[in-house]
Amino acid sequence: MSVKISPSLLAADFMGLKDELKKLKECKTDMLHFDIMDGVFVPNISFANPILKQVKANTDIPLDVHLMIDRPHRYIKEFAKSADYLGFHYEAGSDVAETLKEIRDCGCKACLTIKPCTKAEEIFPFLPLCDMVLVMSVEPGFGGQSFMPDSLDKVRALRKEIDSKGYNTLIEIDGGINGETAPLAIEAGVDVLVAGSYLFGDKMAERIEYLRSL
Ligand code: DX5
Ligand code: ZN
Repeated sequence: MSVKISPSLLAADFMGLKDELKKLKECKTDMLHFDIMDGVFVPNISFANPILKQVKANTDIPLDVHLMIDRPHRYIKEFAKSADYLGFHYEAGSDVAETLKEIRDCGCKACLTIKPCTKAEEIFPFLPLCDMVLVMSVEPGFGGQSFMPDSLDKVRALRKEIDSKGYNTLIEIDGGINGETAPLAIEAGVDVLVAGSYLFGDKMAERIEYLRSL
């Protein structure tokens, strides 16, 4: 099975968002990654529900929503209206099991995300409740940062645990993914690559094709 691609909209041209969505559709991307930042959990603020709703209304690409917000359980019901995959951070101050269950109860796929400072083993107990886990390969908050190679050990540990227990959980990686780092991530066992700055721009089609060919 080839790796799935989830381009991060953070790097899109927002003045030409309809064209970006059209291009992404033509490139047959598997998902669309949507970064929501609150300026509290991460030192940056991005975009939120009004834009998410409009994107949902204008594309049938599954939306992979990455919440980088404090106490995310407060907003699950609202974001679940537009998300297909809905993910939050393990470190963000919500009850992890309850929040994962609520996401599934809302009809979304539940995703748990870990920052570079969190060990993979800490989330092993929650894997049966996760449709996907997201390993951050940069500190969350900004696009265009350099890939942190330590994240690969976490991917390997999660791959081993998921396979040995027979879970269906997908492993996604986010941050600094490009033509050089993607093969390393795939080799370590990821199922889904998020990429922002590498994919948006003139070479989107050929770069998506390249990532898929790996
Ligand atoms: C960072 C975001 C990423 C970001 C990735 O906090 O979660 O999704 O858009 O950007 P690149 O691919 O440029 O590192
Ligand atoms: Zn992200």
